[in-house]
Parts: sequence; C-alpha cells; structure tokens
Amino acid sequence: MTHNVLVLAGDGIGPEIVAEAQKVLHAVDVKFGLDLKITNALVGGSAIDATGGPLPEATLNAAKACDAILLGAVGGPKWDGLDMAIRPEKGLLGLRSNLKLFGNLRPAILYPQLADASSLKPEVVSGLDILIVRELTGGIYFGQPRGVRVLENGERQGYNTYVYAESEIRRIGKVAFEAARARGGRLCSVDKANVLEVTVLWREIMDEMSADYPDVTLSHMYVDNAAMQLVRAPKQFDVMVTGNMFGDILSDAAAMLTGSIGMLPSASLDEAGKGMYEPCHGSAPDIAGQGKANPLATILSAAMMLRYTLNEGAAADAIEKAVSVVLDQGLRTPDICAAGNQEVDTKTMGDAVVSALLNG
Ligand code: IPM
Ligand code: MG
Repeated sequence: MTHNVLVLAGDGIGPEIVAEAQKVLHAVDVKFGLDLKITNALVGGSAIDATGGPLPEATLNAAKACDAILLGAVGGPKWDGLDMAIRPEKGLLGLRSNLKLFGNLRPAILYPQLADASSLKPEVVSGLDILIVRELTGGIYFGQPRGVRVLENGERQGYNTYVYAESEIRRIGKVAFEAARARGGRLCSVDKANVLEVTVLWREIMDEMSADYPDVTLSHMYVDNAAMQLVRAPKQFDVMVTGNMFGDILSDAAAMLTGSIGMLPSASLDEAGKGMYEPCHGSAPDIAGQGKANPLATILSAAMMLRYTLNEGAAADAIEKAVSVVLDQGLRTPDICAAGNQEVDTKTMGDAVVSALLNG
C-alpha cells in the first residue's frame, strides 16, 4: 500500500533538517519496501513570500489528502513585523486546527550517550523517559474573543481567552490515560486550578476519567510547581498531560533535559491517528543555512510518523536504532557536542544516520 507523505520544509533551518529526514525516509523506503510517495508544499514564511499567505489553499488541500505530514519549522525575523493573522506561525496553527490535530505527543528521552550534554547533572537525567501530552487545538491559543482593543480612556488593551470545553478535555485525557496505560502507568495532569476556573474543570474531568483507568495512577500538579519539578527531579514523571500553552512551555523545558531541543520529535494526531510530525524546536534563523542545525529531532519525527500513522513499526525502530549508533560513534552537531566528540554538520549527521541504517 502506498503511503502518501506530505513534506513541508518551512523556514529557517526547516529546509536543511527536512532534507536529511527525507534522505533517511528514502533509505527506509528502499530497505523495507514501504512504497512512500513524498510530495512537497509551502507553509509559513516561504509560503507568504510565494503566495501572500502562510497556509495556501493548495497546501491545506494536500495536507487533507495525504496520509501523514512531516514538517520542518516556520517563522523568522523577516516576517516578525507582519500582522498576527498572516504570520508564519498561523500556517502551523491553521494546519493543526483545520486537521483537528488535538493530540500532541512530545517524548523527552535522554539518549545515554548525551548525558553530558544536558545542563543538569547526569544522575538527575540518566534514564529519563517522559512523555508530554499537550492539547494542541484549543485553550488560549484558539480561544475567542482575542485581539487588541481600545478602552474608553483611550488606552489599548490586549486580550485572549482561555477556554476548554468538556469534550476537548475528555479527548486529550483519553490520549493521555491510554499512553500512560501503555507505559509506566503514571499520569500527572498539570493545571493552574488554584487560580483559573478553566483548569478547575480540567482537573475535575481528569479525576472523573481516572475511574475508567484503574491501572493508571493519576496525580495533579500546578504548572509552576511542574516547571520546577521538571528541572529538580524530572524522573518522577512518566506521562504528563496539559493544555496548549502550558504544554508549549513545559515541553521546551523537558527538551533541555535531554541535552538539546534539537533531539526532541513530536507527533500531532487527530482522532483517527492521522498525524503531522515535526521537531519541537523552531526555525532557528540565527543558524539557518550554516549547516549547524541538528537534524535528529526531524529524523526522529519521521520515525514517529512511521510508527504512529503509517504502521511501519520495524522501519521506525530501525531509524531510532541508527540514531543511537551514530551517537555511539561520537558524531555530534554543535548543540550536543562535548569534549571528546566529533563535531559534524547537518548533512554529515544525516548521511551518518543513513549509512547506519543501511549497515544495520
Ligand atoms: C511549538 C511552537 C509553536 C507553538 C509556535 C511556533 C507557534 O513553539 O510547536 O511548540 O507555540 O505551538
Ligand atoms: Mg513551543
């Protein structure tokens, strides 16, 4: 069966890291006879430059028609001055909401080879394996009303709305409880129920749902404490579930525990398991075009795509193993490079993963 994959390179380092992931996909395609059919389309700033908007209709249609999407990153200083409604980020957010990709999985796993690259002591992070489940199509990112208005006294006021409907909480809860069930059986729901009503409801629903998952131990934590605990004793967590904005913040913090945000892949899934896969990091315009970007988060995102949406688990395993082999060889992009390693550029890293795959 043909797997139709849409690749959206995006901006900044996006094209560089996606090119390496595409090489790796090609290698597993040949090795495992996957029959991948890859097409490309524009999103973000590059789409603004070419078409005037961050999410052209052709891209949205292709995204709806394909089986899975691999995305690089969007945004950059070139487009920072634009109105919020047509910024590159709107392309990404538009894909997430139009395709109803509400379930965002962000696994923070420390490769043992990178224990020294973390800013935390090796004993604090060694063996780290956390899954952050972030709600991705609701909360304050999408709540209405929003905008900047002028008050009666002439002063401007910015405002956003933090809302979650019960059904939205339940469907992300289900993703999280089931993920916890398949892993270590512990789920920590993160909220701000001491201040925000919307998260009081969130907590209530999670408690209600836990009756259906007697094999999962549910706990609750306020987001400020969760941020602290992530850098104090991150191994206490198995699965964390939280709303869109808290998840955005906590997943960046969790990424750094693993040595570099350049290592963190993600999956954004709809109810049927169709997904968009992207690294958790951004477009890093400061290093774009210099061969310094770490392609591993994108390569690992491609592995997640094969596992979760395309049901090609063996190919996914092979990619993850190849990444581990390359790290064993001591090859490192600058973001994860320590004494005794061999610093390599983006392309060399991608090529090394491909050859580890073909020799594995
Ligand atoms: C992420 C990013 C995005 C987000 C930005 C680029 C809109 O930070 O995927 O975490 O805030 O969701
Ligand atoms: Mg983010």
